[in-house]
Amino acid sequence: MKEFGYFDDKHREYVITTPATPWPWINYMGTEDFFSLISNTAGGYCFYKDAKFRRILRYRYNGVPMDAGGRYFYIKDGDTVWNPGWKPCKTPLDFYECRHGMGYTRITGEKDGLRADTLFFVPLGKCCEVHRLRLTNTGSERKSFQLYAFLEWCLWNASTDMENFQRNLSTGEVEIEADALYHKTEYRERRDHYAFYGANRPFDGFDTDRECFLGAYNGFEAPQQVLSGTSGNSVAHGWSPVAAPRFDLTLEAGESTELIFVLGYVQNPQDQKFSAPAVINKAPARELLAAFANTQQVEEAFARLKAWWDNLLGRFTVQSSVPELDRTVNIWNQYQCMITYFMSRSASYFESGIGRGMGFRDSNQDLTGIVHMIPERARQRILDIAATQFPDGGCYHQYQPLTKRGNHDIGGGFGDDPLWLIFGTVAYLKETGDWSILDEPVPFDNQPGSEKTLLEHLKISFQHVVDRRGPHGLPLIGRADWNDCLNLNCFSWNPDESFQTTENKSEGSQAESLMIAGLFVAEGRDFAALLQRLQDPMAASVQTAVQEMEQAVKTYGWDGEWFLRAYDFDGNKIGSHENPESKIFIESQGWCTMARIGAEEGLCDRALDAASEELECEYGLVLNAPAYTTYLAEYGEISSYPQGYKENGGIFCHNNPWVIIGEAMAGRAQDAWRHYCKITPAFTKDQALRKVEPYVFCQMVAGKEAARPGEGKNSWLTGTAAWTWKAVSEALLGIQPQFDGLLIQPCIPIGDYHIHRRFREAEYDITIHQTGKGGSVFIPYKPGKQVLELTF
Ligand code: GLC
Ligand code: GLC
Repeated sequence: MKEFGYFDDKHREYVITTPATPWPWINYMGTEDFFSLISNTAGGYCFYKDAKFRRILRYRYNGVPMDAGGRYFYIKDGDTVWNPGWKPCKTPLDFYECRHGMGYTRITGEKDGLRADTLFFVPLGKCCEVHRLRLTNTGSERKSFQLYAFLEWCLWNASTDMENFQRNLSTGEVEIEADALYHKTEYRERRDHYAFYGANRPFDGFDTDRECFLGAYNGFEAPQQVLSGTSGNSVAHGWSPVAAPRFDLTLEAGESTELIFVLGYVQNPQDQKFSAPAVINKAPARELLAAFANTQQVEEAFARLKAWWDNLLGRFTVQSSVPELDRTVNIWNQYQCMITYFMSRSASYFESGIGRGMGFRDSNQDLTGIVHMIPERARQRILDIAATQFPDGGCYHQYQPLTKRGNHDIGGGFGDDPLWLIFGTVAYLKETGDWSILDEPVPFDNQPGSEKTLLEHLKISFQHVVDRRGPHGLPLIGRADWNDCLNLNCFSWNPDESFQTTENKSEGSQAESLMIAGLFVAEGRDFAALLQRLQDPMAASVQTAVQEMEQAVKTYGWDGEWFLRAYDFDGNKIGSHENPESKIFIESQGWCTMARIGAEEGLCDRALDAASEELECEYGLVLNAPAYTTYLAEYGEISSYPQGYKENGGIFCHNNPWVIIGEAMAGRAQDAWRHYCKITPAFTKDQALRKVEPYVFCQMVAGKEAARPGEGKNSWLTGTAAWTWKAVSEALLGIQPQFDGLLIQPCIPIGDYHIHRRFREAEYDITIHQTGKGGSVFIPYKPGKQVLELTF
């Protein structure tokens, strides 16, 4: 079986050994405001804060060949033109390696005795990418050759950049200096920002006009200037501005040289935009260039970045007998949680960075993957999210990262959304013990003057769901619940409308959700405990509502062998053995077993058995089975997908952890571990089949009814990251933060293991011996170091 790379755990890197991976295998750079996507052939783009409105590099989605555009270096050595990352020329290399690490990527190529080692990273606290290129003559002769760097500017708004050509083919503007090329389109008018690409030595030539560099009929693989070893010294006016500096270099045998490039973004105060009429104020760009002018500066910045990640990833580590588990827990899962938190669902090789804002429910779930690493940012995120709530406890389904305002196009009305604010806040409180967050004043719909405390927001969130129960006492689903595609009130027959935004038929709807019911019980219990701790009188009514809901689930939500999924508009069952298709769904099995509804009566064990029997396949648990074979307007988007994909019978990895946690809560370690291993990428057996990166979780893997079961899609930005983190750290390894300490309750059949865990101001070293007796131990919080040996 073909392998395309391997893990280097010591360096926290994934090493790709052939550039022609089955799909671009990417990495992310950036930690604050400036973010980049970079593939294993240096494709991708960067943006400032918002992938739609402040796009710096142009990228072609769904292009042919795929992954066109990025930061390319061309080397013209005699008649041979090659790139260290193989693309775009695809000249066969004598050596290729790509190392994706924590916030950086290193791509090395070698050809005919010349080695090019490129390091790409976004330094902490700076709005730029640094590209360090080390060239070494590995041969025995002196070598003279030419080096070109190349990138293409996006005209800022990534959406109009690829739509509005009648305008944007006329707007492009640049400025040129001996060692830097500036992109200043629209700076003359309302923009106060520009971008630049500079080097730490003067150019021997340059181009800023794409057509002059490439030739009108050439692609990136055959730039006419590179082929002829020349530069046009072109000045872009409109059309497509690029930055393509040239360097004429000579290296003696064995000699090395280093070039440092800075791809930067600058924002100037309104009154300091220009240094002379129509001339941009370049002082901040010059400062950035000066900050990375020599090797030592680059190495120091790189070391700081490494230290930043070391610190974050040092907060929770495991040492066990299973290397796949250790590398997932210690490196890649936590890294993916951070990236997903940064990007939400905006920019990946499956998300265009244009379409979707930040999801209310998504962001709350993402928090749980990062709160132990960056609690202050989790705190701010909770307050931002809460500020998009409506006074009645409902909320916008999405909001925009640049403005933090709710997204009117989508609006609200998703039945589960309000409960996730409780979920996110409880996770924050359990990790940090920072109860002061509950007193923070937070507005509604960002309207100044409408502030109420976060605690009040939580109360109305809960009440919102209590007030919207259907005929069986179960929560009404609204537009959809967690499953965006289960649209029970939508009845759409118009292919031009979106299932998520079209006018719903709500009058008389009986559509209720068992997934929300489980979520309500699980989060309601936590919320009641939180209120009790505050001695808030609402605690009692929350408890009552939770008990009522449990009863409603047992009475109307149990199908005999598993939990029903929902009731439709007319009150008919969904996810029942009575249904011809989709007799069982995963979401309600996961949530109702996590909520332990009917555990004493054996309902949880039976539901979990049913999940394994009906939903499990070689690659994980599918969402529903058997998948719908025809479009059913009464169920909506779910039935729009071909069988085995996405929400129609795909392995939606996001909800597998719900069952894994349910299994662990039921003490069924073997089942929990088996389900976990199936979706965890480090255990991938066939990289070619999986297609996407073997170091990050997918949102979806094709299910058993698909044409190619096991094929992954939507890697990187998915709630799977946070949920698998929660499942493995809390349910399997058993380190469960509580309001006042850690509950240790392992449920994982891997023998003994060791955990290092920083928790608030405490640092725990815990050795776990497993003898099979099980059980749990509560460790009250106490600052300082603690060494524990525990036997279960
Ligand atoms: C996507 C969405 C998420 C939703 C899930 C299921 O992952 O981002 O909000 O819950 O799909 O439809
Ligand atoms: C589509 C996707 C689903 C996602 C939703 C978000 O329906 O299939 O996964 O949650 O869009 O709007």
